[in-house]
Amino acid sequence: MVSTAGTQSGEQGWSSRSAFILAAVGAAVGLGNIWRFPTLAGESGGGAFVLVYIGFVVLLGLPLVLSEIMLGRAGGEDAIGSVENVARESGVSTRWKGLGALQITSGFLILSFYSVVAGWVINYVYLAGGDFLGAVMSGDVFAGAFAGETQDQITGRMGDLFADPTRLIILHAIFMAATIWIVASGVHDGIEKAATWLMPAFFVLLVIITIYGALTGNFGEAVAFLFTPDFSKLSPVVLNEALGQALFSLSLAAGGLLTYGAYVSKDVNLAPTAGMIAMADTTVAILAGLMIFPIVFAVGLDPAGGPALIFQTLPVAFNEMPAGALVGFVFFILIFFAALTSSISLLEGPTAWVIDKTGWARKKAAIVVGLVAFAIGVTCALGYNVWSEVRPLGFWNIFAETDILDTLDGFTGKIMLPLGALLVALFVGWRADANMVKAQTGLSDGMFLVWRFLVAWAAPIAVSLVLLFGLVPGLLG
Ligand code: PFF
Repeated sequence: MVSTAGTQSGEQGWSSRSAFILAAVGAAVGLGNIWRFPTLAGESGGGAFVLVYIGFVVLLGLPLVLSEIMLGRAGGEDAIGSVENVARESGVSTRWKGLGALQITSGFLILSFYSVVAGWVINYVYLAGGDFLGAVMSGDVFAGAFAGETQDQITGRMGDLFADPTRLIILHAIFMAATIWIVASGVHDGIEKAATWLMPAFFVLLVIITIYGALTGNFGEAVAFLFTPDFSKLSPVVLNEALGQALFSLSLAAGGLLTYGAYVSKDVNLAPTAGMIAMADTTVAILAGLMIFPIVFAVGLDPAGGPALIFQTLPVAFNEMPAGALVGFVFFILIFFAALTSSISLLEGPTAWVIDKTGWARKKAAIVVGLVAFAIGVTCALGYNVWSEVRPLGFWNIFAETDILDTLDGFTGKIMLPLGALLVALFVGWRADANMVKAQTGLSDGMFLVWRFLVAWAAPIAVSLVLLFGLVPGLLG
């Protein structure tokens, strides 16, 4: 086991290849799959978005996952230090480390709103837990969730939550505290342990609920919605959205994979590992779509319902499902866990950098970084009530209607992540020492050529075009 990242704090690295895979899949699978993907697919017209999304995952996401893990392992430090090391060893300007700085900033900003959304999940853990307890007390363990409530009452609970700033902030605080606690416990004793327990359980429940939705909901309509591309719905903005989502979901360009890569031992073959991460992540996103949209259509909700969508559909499904109170409770716990295994990777990036930079103890670094992110998240929570009129980037067409949380989400997803990915592609494809890169990836000669073409040419061109056409008209218009 070789790892130098965070050595000041005595960091040990992953205990095995499978521990790393689980942690990386844990980082990838999260609210991005269960909450953000269905929301964007719903808003952007379904099939066309999904098709473009999958295209981006395969052609850009997968090669970049390999690039980032490889860079992290080769550099062996935090995201900034790793890029700097590789640049130095490759004999090119160490200013490339700026790409690490951009990535860490993105991850930090994502963490701040991610934790707020995860707070909504905790709200439903609480509600569903109380509901299940009620069912048990009344002797009906197999009751549906929220028995006796109308659909409007159930979906209306989300509005009640948004209207309550104190509740939103407390829930956000609970989630951030949990994230800080795990990161403070270390890579091996915190992050790895959390992922090894939580991810397998999450997968099993996801499959069960999807099968239930398929059997009882409006599955045909959902499949048609998700897989019949209506190309008239494609626009540069949708392409931009899909690219951002592919990057977000794979945990690319936000410092997470670069940092986790540094904890991987030298004998792990990275290419198949990257493939497994991308595959697992995409499968979960599609399953989440197949889980949510049958219910959306069966209940007559608007697929373009926005950020509240999944919190309105799932409780309705659990209401009608036998043993829904129990399943609902367990499922929200698992979404919470999926969110947690992602948020820890978001916090680990900036924390590892602070440790390497200042020599602080891991605990102190995690607490300080987490608290600042918490403070930014509070503004997002207030954006649903007291500051509901605030439009931080209202002057910009594409953000004209977006509240604080959506602006932060959109700005990181549509702009910062694509820029971070572009820089990684340029650095790995053109500047990093090719022999070192080839040895690190472990790819055969033929595969290396394909991979290098995707990283050096396809990714920079595609990302630049998407940024140009997605953003500039919005800026001018
Ligand atoms: N991939 C995570 C999700 O889909 O929920 C979010 C994320 C985690 C993004 C870690 C970036 C990151 F570095």
